[in-house]
Amino acid sequence: MTESILVSVDVGFREVKARWTKQDSYCVFPSVIAPARASDFQAGLNGFNQNHIRYKGHDFFVADHALTHSPLAGQTVNRSRTRSLEYPTLFMAALAQMIPGHKVVRLITGLPNSEMKDEVQVRAALLGQHDIVYNGRKYSYEIDQVRVVPQALGILVREGFKLVPGKLDIDDHSLINEPNLFIDIGGRTVNLMYMQGVEYISELSDSQSLGMYRVLEDVRKALNQMYDLQLSLAEIDGIFKNRSQNGGYSVKIQGVHKTISKVVEPILDQVAESIKREATTLWRDTNASSLILAGGGSHHLGQKVADKIGHPRTKIVDRPEFAVAGGMYLYGIFLDQRNAWERK
Ligand SMILES: Nc1ncnc2c1ncn2[C@@H]1O[C@H](COP(=O)(O)OP(=O)(O)OP(=O)(O)O)[C@@H](O)[C@H]1O
Ligand SMILES: [Mg+2]
Repeated sequence: MTESILVSVDVGFREVKARWTKQDSYCVFPSVIAPARASDFQAGLNGFNQNHIRYKGHDFFVADHALTHSPLAGQTVNRSRTRSLEYPTLFMAALAQMIPGHKVVRLITGLPNSEMKDEVQVRAALLGQHDIVYNGRKYSYEIDQVRVVPQALGILVREGFKLVPGKLDIDDHSLINEPNLFIDIGGRTVNLMYMQGVEYISELSDSQSLGMYRVLEDVRKALNQMYDLQLSLAEIDGIFKNRSQNGGYSVKIQGVHKTISKVVEPILDQVAESIKREATTLWRDTNASSLILAGGGSHHLGQKVADKIGHPRTKIVDRPEFAVAGGMYLYGIFLDQRNAWERK
């Protein structure tokens, strides 16, 4: 039988993150997808490097190419995203970017805890045979197992377990056994999660539209007012991703780099204050062992949120944007060990 490959895919509102090897390497691209017109992708270099994907008889551009080449580009940000064809298409684009040819895959993915009820739809959309054409090449994937987990579990597993040759071992017993607080600062949402060991406590968890999007929107408005700059959200996001080593934010105006930290810092401070307010209201009467901050927004907001909340045991995780995808991948290894992929 063909060997099955373990893959984890985290479809965020802002970016798709995926992993398939045991090395610490990830596939990452913006979660942007738009219908492609034949004239657009045929006019290019024979469809190569355009992020053009044909799936189930439909043509799409994904990632940056969708932003620049389709008049209909939009992000998959609505609540009903899991019901759309665009949703599994983003998974196929991730697979095609990582794994060539015709392969059997066991796939692990996550949903925000509040959307776990969509698990059945997600499994139905992903299980089975998928034939795609990506940048002019044919790929086919037989997805024979799908596991959908709450995103919080991904973060917990990445922080609480470690991979020792061939298997997964507990690294931090307090995470596995005690109550802990998790904040995932994403592109669109901030997820506040209370875990009692490995158990997710929904009454003490919440999701708010407080992600980096808030910051990007406010920075865009401020730069427009102050410097008359008309930048797209993707360009503003570039400023955040390219932040210099010493933490400064800058933008190129007529070819010259201008520091804009004075504009950015108060905006970050305001959003961090809102996150802190949500957290302290939600967790007022709780007593948790530690506070763990993850999600790509932690690069910018993590330290401010941590300082404001002031929990004595706080950790901003390493490479926070990959915490969910990385942890889900490890969870897949755990399922392999236990031979626990099939539902009972
Ligand atoms: N390497 C990086 N350096 C700096 N900032 C980053 C980096 N990676 C991601 N970010 C920031 O994090 C944001 C995306 O975070 P993340 O990938 O956690 O969001 P998401 O999972 O797509 O969104 P959501 O969780 O709301 O669905 C980006 O908009 C960017 O501002
Ligand atoms: Mg996310």
